[in-house]
Amino acid sequence: DGDAYKYYCDGEWRKSSSGKTVAIVNPTTRKTQYKVQACTQEEVNKVMELAKSAQKTWAKTPLWKRAELLHKAAAILKEHKAPIAECLIKEIAKPAKDSVTEVVRSGDLISYTAEEGVRILGEGKFLVSDSFPGNERTKYCLTSKIPLGVVLAIPPFNYPVNLAVSKIGPALIAGNSLVLKPPTQGAVSCLHMVHCFHLAGFPKGLISCVTGKGSEIGDFLTMHPGVNCISFTGGDTGISISKKAGMIPLQMELGGKDACIVLEDADLDLVAANIIKGGFSYSGQRCTAIKVVLVMESVADALVEKVKARVAKLRVGPPEDDCDITPVVTESSANFIEGLVMDAKEKGATFCQQYKREGNLIWPLLLDNVRPDMRIAWEEPFGPILPVIRINTVEEGIHHCNASNFGLQGCVFTKDINKAVLISDAMETGTVQINSAPARGPDHFPFQGLKDSGIGSQGITNSIDMMTKVKTTVINLP
Ligand code: G3H
Repeated sequence: DGDAYKYYCDGEWRKSSSGKTVAIVNPTTRKTQYKVQACTQEEVNKVMELAKSAQKTWAKTPLWKRAELLHKAAAILKEHKAPIAECLIKEIAKPAKDSVTEVVRSGDLISYTAEEGVRILGEGKFLVSDSFPGNERTKYCLTSKIPLGVVLAIPPFNYPVNLAVSKIGPALIAGNSLVLKPPTQGAVSCLHMVHCFHLAGFPKGLISCVTGKGSEIGDFLTMHPGVNCISFTGGDTGISISKKAGMIPLQMELGGKDACIVLEDADLDLVAANIIKGGFSYSGQRCTAIKVVLVMESVADALVEKVKARVAKLRVGPPEDDCDITPVVTESSANFIEGLVMDAKEKGATFCQQYKREGNLIWPLLLDNVRPDMRIAWEEPFGPILPVIRINTVEEGIHHCNASNFGLQGCVFTKDINKAVLISDAMETGTVQINSAPARGPDHFPFQGLKDSGIGSQGITNSIDMMTKVKTTVINLP
């Protein structure tokens, strides 16, 4: 298939020997937009073999040189923001401005990673033995951080570029090699991003990008004996990866059901603005989206009115026009969201707007008076549908939040900082935002989920640490 994008192996673009391709359907037109190679298991083996040998030389390349190449890649990526954003628009229907922001943010992330890397990897520790009982000062212990080997990076469709470079940057600065398996929707954006690393001049085989069907190469990649670390962002697949993976470090971020707890004294205009941003940006397709509002009954009517007024102003349509609400990523995703809406309807939720759908485009919908027996109270729609649960006590809100399988982020709105901190302590989530919607960024902040939301902690510094191991050398004095 001459039109299909090639995959990246040994510093060059190749066609798969399978002769097969995977189609990428544009969520807006619902027609095939691009095709990528359906790589084979043999091709994965080849990529792993090259990654292993390239890593050995890369680990010996001076840290400042590794950083220099990353800075170069960051600059090239930013120069190519327009064509990459165009791919994001066509593959994942991300609004035009947000698509550009994603690429620019990714360039900044790579540069920051290079800077952080030269500092934290340029330092080690020095310990002496006589601080531990029974020891004389006869042992000097030197520590440094060494790479793990081959890092497998699997980003999700919603930030295919940003959540790829958040894995690639830390892996490379720390001296690892990198195998990237992009999501199907977002694969072409990833291939363009990889081309920027190619143009920067990284050694052959150090970075590879294999595309294809999960059924053919998914398990094969994640269970491959050549992989020394997996960094995955996505959905439930992460749970099965963590069960099947070998004895290697895992970094997983698997979604959430971020709650927004609103107290009586909250600034309701601020809350409404954050519910719109947190609940509806990129049509709710963010792991950190607000996915349930838990509001005190006494201010619920006023808040719902304010949110309704803002929902009415959201622009619904194609990503090319930079609309706020754009088609969700696939038809099956739209069907899933619709299932949640229908369940809430049968069980008596109050519809603040009429439910409307055309193809993959779902109009924003606020569901009031949601009760715990409705699926939408617990499940993650990954769409522009937001449930409101009215609560009579703060404890009720905390209880709902903690009864979830997820524990990514949450937010609390109140003018009482003491209460906010106590609520934050009580919420079983990796992060709590006080008086703002949940968000992963800035990208150097620690980012982690409890329970089914993930394993480990991300953020630039934490990812570099996670992709290294401590090595010690002990000098024994006579
Ligand atoms: O979808 C998950 C992303 O990590 C969310 O990132 O909070 O920067 O939108 P964000």
